[in-house]
Amino acid sequence: MSTTPPDPIRSTSSTAWPIMAAGAVGVLAIVAVALAARLDPLTAIAAGAAVAAATAICVFAADRSGEARYRELMRAAASRAGEQPPFASLVNALPDPILVVSATEPDDLTSRRYIFANAAARDLLRIERGEGLLVNAIRDPDVLDAVDRALFAGQDAECVYEGGGAQSRTLRTYARPLGLALDGRRLAVLVFRDETEIRQVERTRVDFLANASHELRTPLASLSGFIETLRGHAKDDASARERFLSIMQVQAARMSRLVDDLMSLSRIELGEHIAPADEVDLAACVSDVLDASAPIAERRGIKLKIKLPRQGAARARGDRDQLLQVIQNLVDNAMKYSPDGGVVEVALQAMLSPEAASAPYRPGAARLSLLGPDVPAPTYAALRVSDRGPGIPREHLPRLTERFYRVEGQKSGERSGSGLGLAIVKHIVNRHRGGMTVESVVGEGTTFTVYLPMRPSAKVASAAEVVAKVS
Ligand SMILES: Nc1ncnc2c1ncn2[C@@H]1O[C@H](COP(=O)(O)OP(=O)(O)OP(=O)(O)O)[C@@H](O)[C@H]1O
Ligand SMILES: [Mg+2]
Repeated sequence: MSTTPPDPIRSTSSTAWPIMAAGAVGVLAIVAVALAARLDPLTAIAAGAAVAAATAICVFAADRSGEARYRELMRAAASRAGEQPPFASLVNALPDPILVVSATEPDDLTSRRYIFANAAARDLLRIERGEGLLVNAIRDPDVLDAVDRALFAGQDAECVYEGGGAQSRTLRTYARPLGLALDGRRLAVLVFRDETEIRQVERTRVDFLANASHELRTPLASLSGFIETLRGHAKDDASARERFLSIMQVQAARMSRLVDDLMSLSRIELGEHIAPADEVDLAACVSDVLDASAPIAERRGIKLKIKLPRQGAARARGDRDQLLQVIQNLVDNAMKYSPDGGVVEVALQAMLSPEAASAPYRPGAARLSLLGPDVPAPTYAALRVSDRGPGIPREHLPRLTERFYRVEGQKSGERSGSGLGLAIVKHIVNRHRGGMTVESVVGEGTTFTVYLPMRPSAKVASAAEVVAKVS
């Protein structure tokens, strides 16, 4: 409850009445003295006494009012002093966890207490009260050591604190001395700054560079090895030269594909915030990709089962080249991870509601949304690419769209990849304000679904209709 400050206008008017009364009595006294002077001395004395008494009463009344006013002000001041000081509310509202610690004895761990913990600190350290034994809130020896240096050596200290329970957070912790309290206790403040995201970005950058250079170094090492061999003992061996040159060609192609993928990824990321403006016929794009993939499918005996709407029925705002890349990557993966003689199904559906577009497709499969649109569009076109390959264990699903991420121990046929394909797919779909899900059953196969916004239309298929069509 807030205390109303004293109102200077009201305070003036409440003390005005005794002064006005005293003035009135003064006027009466003058009149009385004048009358008395014309009457007789006794009456004049009586009138003077009356004036004196009335003035005294009025002055007393005025005094009483001033005292009451003074008391009222004191009461207001006292109740203000009992309020939370505004800085405490301010510190409480700060997002960084802050703890004030006090201690008396360096050797007595139980003398270290936290005497203030803002809401963020209570949340981080899972403490209910703003006061208690420090070791009950923090057990990390590095943090306790930093606190001691601030308390007993008067030094600024900092360290890294790994906390936050199940969702592990990395926080830089700053301990600063605050001097002595009035009762002689030493004081220090602990401020935590969450660096989890910064570290994550840094780790991703370091991993990316390490992975990219590793991926390039392998074919490069192989190329320089073969060059050496060709210059040395294979110099005059025509058949060996032919064999080595064809291996070198494969390695050079691998390097060139890797560089292309990296360039493509960085180009897509640069323009990711700009939604594409062209209109693209998705059915025509799928047909083009499948035509190009047919020879490889044929060579490996893979049957391509295709379900497409009529040309022109699935139009989306898009970048044709990028959408071709999406479809190509998904079809490539499905074929690459299929056994020879396997089956790959490619289905495109138009005019789906947001729920229908992202509805589960493979009953009993582990399923994950790899990307969801921020704002759902009214209608979507969904492309589903399914295979009957080895499937992907559930624990790998969240990492599939990370750059260079590959599931260990999978056979990938003739073409081993670098783990950039799905990262490229995700960024392109994101640019198109679409979504992406994966469903997989180990030993049975995998389905990737990509859905892209279409223009609104009268007839929109519901999720129930889609499931009914599938089952
Ligand atoms: N259809 C699939 N079946 C089984 N595993 C898959 C399938 N699609 C992707 N994966 C797994 O996900 C990983 C990442 O796929 P991604 O397409 O990003 O990389 P890649 O195919 O290995 O290489 P790239 O696409 O760059 O040539 C693959 O290495 C593979 O382990
Ligand atoms: Mg791939």
